[in-house]
Amino acid sequence: MAQSEYILTARGLHKSYGKGRARVEVLGGLDLSLRGGEFLAVMGPSGCGKTTLLHILGLIALPDAGTIALDGREIPAGPRTRTTLRRTHIGLVFQRLNLISVLTAADNVGISLRVRGEENNGRVEELFEALGIAHVSGHKPAEMSMGEQQRVAVARALAHRPAVLLADEPTGSLDSANSRTLLEIFRETNHRDGQTIVMITHSPDVAAYADRIVHMKDGILLDDN
Ligand SMILES: Nc1ncnc2c1ncn2[C@@H]1O[C@H](COP(=O)(O)OP(=O)(O)O)[C@@H](O)[C@H]1O
Ligand SMILES: [Mg+2]
Repeated sequence: MAQSEYILTARGLHKSYGKGRARVEVLGGLDLSLRGGEFLAVMGPSGCGKTTLLHILGLIALPDAGTIALDGREIPAGPRTRTTLRRTHIGLVFQRLNLISVLTAADNVGISLRVRGEENNGRVEELFEALGIAHVSGHKPAEMSMGEQQRVAVARALAHRPAVLLADEPTGSLDSANSRTLLEIFRETNHRDGQTIVMITHSPDVAAYADRIVHMKDGILLDDN
């Protein structure tokens, strides 16, 4: 099969929560085509379904209907292939970070390399240095500020050099200087490694770092241009 010009495509994604009269449709036939190496920002009001979309794109949640394809190959619904593809292709920065509370910052990132059978080889230290969190590498999440935890979550998502980085409001707890550092790192991995990025944000200043901005409205994405 010929490789697609798109690294990630979503077609006709539907997702609702609840049943009967409490049923709320969050995604209403959403389409997205993401070129390899593209840096996309997704904006939209709170509660409109951005996190839901990111979890579906990240293969950790299933849509009610619709398909996701990675590199032109449609993803099957079975858990085994999805887990493998998620581990090899996807890096996800969760809105709630999901760091493991009993592990140090360095181990939170190191373990994510180990489950992929990869050696550290200084990768964790390099990322911590770049993200300005080397001084907390031995700290557990409760011993770090939100901003530091957020950058540990970013290091974890980047460590295995995923083809696609999905980041859910990654600057939400950062001051403007640390936001800028983080966004420069995103842009650098995007330029240098051709990493594809989907970043959710509320901030037009943050979105401005992306190549393309889309707005989520009524369960679909509207292009800026
Ligand atoms: N697991 C869930 N069960 C029921 N409702 C949910 C669940 N997750 C999200 N929702 C609802 O779906 C809507 C979209 O949520 P979410 O995707 O988190 O939006 P956003 O990230 O844009 O704030 C919200 O109204 C939220 O309350
Ligand atoms: Mg959200």
